[in-house]
Amino acid sequence: MATKILIAYFSHWGHSQNFAEQIQKLTGGDLFEIKTSTDYPEAHDPCSIQAHQEQLADFRPELTNHVQNMAQYTTVLIGHPIWWYREPMVIRSFWEAYNFTDKKVIPFATSGDVALPILRKIPRIGFLTRMLSLVSVLKHMLLKTMFLKLKNG
Ligand SMILES: Cc1cc2nc3c(=O)[nH]c(=O)nc-3n(C[C@H](O)[C@H](O)[C@H](O)COP(=O)(O)O)c2cc1C
Repeated sequence: MATKILIAYFSHWGHSQNFAEQIQKLTGGDLFEIKTSTDYPEAHDPCSIQAHQEQLADFRPELTNHVQNMAQYTTVLIGHPIWWYREPMVIRSFWEAYNFTDKKVIPFATSGDVALPILRKIPRIGFLTRMLSLVSVLKHMLLKTMFLKLKNG
């Protein structure tokens, strides 16, 4: 069976969407935005409290859109932000809505980073910052290679 890729993502502030779009360009897969009827505040703190409450309640936000013909996909990437150390609960709603048996499933996530701008202000930490930047460049090269490989099956 030929490789057919779906990139499904949930994104609140746009970072995971941006990542998903870059993966789409590299792999040529179909993009799908996971949408829910649950409203989330824009600001971090109230949204974080809501996300944590949903986790404690094992809540499943309602999905308002659905993948057409999930059976056609051999590989499904599922992307999201990290919310309160985990995936937003709507990812569980998505996960439980489809049968992923026999599919290659690849999760990806975006999260807060290591506050590099703050690090740069500390004297004599330049070397560490450069090393972190190098690791970041290598990580991106590795990811790019991985996604290109995915396209070729
Ligand atoms: C409700 C909420 C909770 C978050 N919790 C975490 C966390 O636990 N760890 C972390 O590193 N980043 C956390 N973040 C930061 C997001 O994971 C990060 O900004 C992510 O890239 C946002 O993705 P998005 O733009 O696709 O929504 C949180 C952000 C929000 C809004």
